[in-house]
Formats: sequence, C-alpha cells, structure tokens
Amino acid sequence: MSDAPDSITIRRPDDWHVHLRDGAMLQAVAQITARQFARAIVMPNLTPPVTTAAMAEEYRERILSALDFGTHFTPLMTAYLTDSTDPDDLAAGHASGALTAAKLYPANATTNSAHGVTDVAKLAPVLERMQDIGMVLCVHGEVTDAEIDIFDREAVFIDRHLSRIVKDFPELKVVFEHVTTEDAVQFVESAGENVGATITPQHLHINRNAMLVGGIRPHAYCLPVAKREQHRLALRKAATSGSAKFFLGTDSAPHAREAKESACGCAGIFNAPFALESYLQVFAEEDALEQFEGFASLHGPAFYGLPVNEGTITLEQVDHRVPDTFEAGGTELVPFHAGETLHWRLAE
Ligand code: DOR
Ligand code: ZN
Repeated sequence: MSDAPDSITIRRPDDWHVHLRDGAMLQAVAQITARQFARAIVMPNLTPPVTTAAMAEEYRERILSALDFGTHFTPLMTAYLTDSTDPDDLAAGHASGALTAAKLYPANATTNSAHGVTDVAKLAPVLERMQDIGMVLCVHGEVTDAEIDIFDREAVFIDRHLSRIVKDFPELKVVFEHVTTEDAVQFVESAGENVGATITPQHLHINRNAMLVGGIRPHAYCLPVAKREQHRLALRKAATSGSAKFFLGTDSAPHAREAKESACGCAGIFNAPFALESYLQVFAEEDALEQFEGFASLHGPAFYGLPVNEGTITLEQVDHRVPDTFEAGGTELVPFHAGETLHWRLAE
C-alpha cells in the first residue's frame, strides 16, 4: 500500500441501510450519520414499527429535527412490512415521496422484528404492487425457524424464500441487505439487474472468530452474524469488484453499552462514526481504491433510480485512534473499531 495516494476524493456517498432509532438515541446518532453521508435508507424497526406512509412522514420529521441547523441530509424512509400491509398505502407513500422502499423482516429475525411477516407467501399482493410501481424491497434474508443453525439462516433463506420471490416477481427491485455469505454473493451475481445487495463494514473486516475467540465479544455481535473466513473473503471480493450490484449499507445499529454487555446482549454494531474510513481501509488493503467511489456513491443511486449527489468528500491517509465510547443520551455507545487505529480519515 506504499504507493497509495495520500488522499482520495469521491462524490458524496450515501448509506443504503442505517438504524437511526428514536428519542434520545436518535438525537445522539443522527448527526453522526449525516456527517458522513448525504442520504440514508432509514430502517423502520422502531417500537412500534413504522408500518405506514404517515408514520414514515412523522419519523422523517423527527430525524430532521435531530440534526444540527444547516445540515444537508436526506432521510429516505422505509415501511416495515407486516401480514396486514395495505398495498394502496405503500403505493400512495411511494408516489408522494414519503416512502422510498419497504422492508421485509421475517417475524422475529432480529431486533424489533416481532411484527414481521409470518408467511412470505401472504405478501404476494404487496410485492406485486411494488413490482408494478418500481418500489424497492429491502430484505433481511434470514429464516427464523428454531431448528435452523444461526450460521445457516441466510443460505436457507435464499433457498426457501428469496429464490422464490425473485422468480415470482422477476421485475421487482430487491436489495438483499447486509449479505454475509458466499452463497448470498453468488445468488446476487447470478440474478438479474433488479437484484442488488448492501454490504456492511463489519462483515468485510471480521469473521466469527472476532466474536468468540479469547472471550465472548458482544460488540462484534450483529445479525446476520459474522460467518467463516471464506465468506468474509467472498464479500471483500464482491464489494471491491466494481460490480454495480453491490453497494454501501452500514447497518449501523446503536444499542446502549449495557444492552450489549449483558447476559443476553442485543444484536447490532454501531459503525456510523467511521464507516467510510472503515470501508476505505478494506478497498486500500484489496488494492482497489479506484472501485471505492462506485461502491460508496454511484451503485446505490443507480439501483434506486435516484440522482447521484452533488459535491465531493475527501478522505486523507492519516492514522487515528477510534474512541472507546461515544456519549449518547446518558448512556454510552461502543463504536466499531473502538480503540483500534484506522488509516484514513474524513477531511472536515
Ligand atoms: O444486528 C442487527 N441489528 N441486525 C439487524 O438486522 C437489526 C439491527 C438492530 O436494529 O439493532
Ligand atoms: Zn439493519
């Protein structure tokens, strides 16, 4: 990496998958994402979930109110699909701009997903409508069946559900969110142009050893859970390949420190503070700096049918230590890479 340039300038990037939460946590994290990204696809798994266009409009207002005066950041809102989602409400929300996408969580797959879809087959009228209007379906691709090993849940979801959805709705735009396996990479690569995927920074950096070797490390735990090294390598290859099917989605998912460091710790990694730095390090390690702008700033807008952002950002090659914690409404958040040295830094 000695011949790498000491700075890189790219068009302003977007985060195609983020959890901004609500209330005091939203106040603490919204600006952190807005500092790095121009737009973000905001996940709807609040309590209660954001299930309608009207709820999404209200949530968008709360996000905008949480930002510092003068911040240019556009939250792109999503609706949480349930067994009783009204296709007309989704379509009206999409037409008005209230909703950019809808999110499919299989019931109980992850944090606040108890209201998720219990039977994907029942969603047919909703998916049909989304296909007709060109609305993106974001998918948390894990089965929830108790008998399926947690490390196999993504691969089994492809076989049981995703391959069927893509076959039955061949024009539907589907984002396979936060892919974690070689199986998912292969599925996305062999599907049509209407199927893409987001990749998180953590799944490019860590495999399951990071969670379990030398002690149990709750801050490396997220869902889908990090897999074997073979899968991490497949993800790094996909992200840095230049394929327009793969784009940046942090899945930054803040949980209070005490909720993570617990006998039953929550799933989620708070990577928002240095997400770009974290991704860029991977592209530098893979000798693929020239592919970074596509992944971070071009492939996502192309997939969503949105314009690319105006303006640029610059990252400089400078070592800096990631803080151990961030203050958040009376509690602490432990960021991804806490205490580690990153080699790139977003210029102010
Ligand atoms: O680790 C995760 N955390 N995965 C998800 O899918 C949800 C997220 C959260 O909301 O905390
Ligand atoms: Zn997520």
